[in-house]
Amino acid sequence: MIIEVLTIFPDFFKSPLDAGVIRRAIDAGLLEFRALDLRDYTHDRHRTTDDRPFGGGEGMVMVPGPIFEAVDDLRSCEPQPFVVMLSPRGRLLDQEIARELASEKRLVFLCGRYEGIDERVARGCVDMELSIGDYVLSGGETAALVAMEVITRFVPGVLGCGTSAENDSFTTGLLEHPQYTRPREFRGMKVPEVLLGGNHKEIAAWRRSEALRITAQRRPDLLKKAELTDDERRIVKDYLEVDSEHSV
Ligand SMILES: C[S@@+](CC[C@H](N)C(=O)[O-])C[C@H]1O[C@@H](n2cnc3c(N)ncnc32)[C@H](O)[C@@H]1O
Repeated sequence: MIIEVLTIFPDFFKSPLDAGVIRRAIDAGLLEFRALDLRDYTHDRHRTTDDRPFGGGEGMVMVPGPIFEAVDDLRSCEPQPFVVMLSPRGRLLDQEIARELASEKRLVFLCGRYEGIDERVARGCVDMELSIGDYVLSGGETAALVAMEVITRFVPGVLGCGTSAENDSFTTGLLEHPQYTRPREFRGMKVPEVLLGGNHKEIAAWRRSEALRITAQRRPDLLKKAELTDDERRIVKDYLEVDSEHSV
């Protein structure tokens, strides 16, 4: 997969991409990453990428010219990119969208700054607007990093063999069960006995039931979409407070 980011701060990506899963994916040739400086697509002495908003108001708005030019340039070579603009008003990033985007051969992330980006960019140059949550960041770069981490977990091989994003929280429709490692006892807290017994069937059943309990207690909203057996629905009902908003 190729990921390119259009930004006025290309150096922003240096250190976060120098460690962890993404670094390994780049080293293994599973991911190609490029941070492109939007200012390289300007033509004035000051390399201007923003201007005052029409109609007045505070702050600056990113001008459309350099962005259209950069995207035209990126679209002039294969594989054709899917262009994603980071924006608080975009589709909310979740595991489903991440899996969808992970099937693209080439993604371009467009990062806004200031008060945002001239509306004509959304109208004429991007394939999707994407938000990482209902809050406002100062720039799209952090959002692009978050999106990259989430999406690349779905690219085959990125997580290494035997590990898959398909078992992560949310992908299964539930939050994940608790995890334990050594030591067996720590500051008086013991690892649940079932995890020490080596009975894989019992362990799987315990994990599923813990995932149901934690999801019911912390994110009952997720249960509406989760695939549950009739028995599981009954178990979950016991965990839920009597609350019609959260009924499953
Ligand atoms: C300060 S924000 C602009 C906020 C805009 N004035 C508003 O109220 O919606 C600057 C840039 O940060 C990025 N950004 C901010 N919050 C984001 C979010 N929740 N998800 C994705 N990108 C975000 C976008 O690229 C945006 O253009």
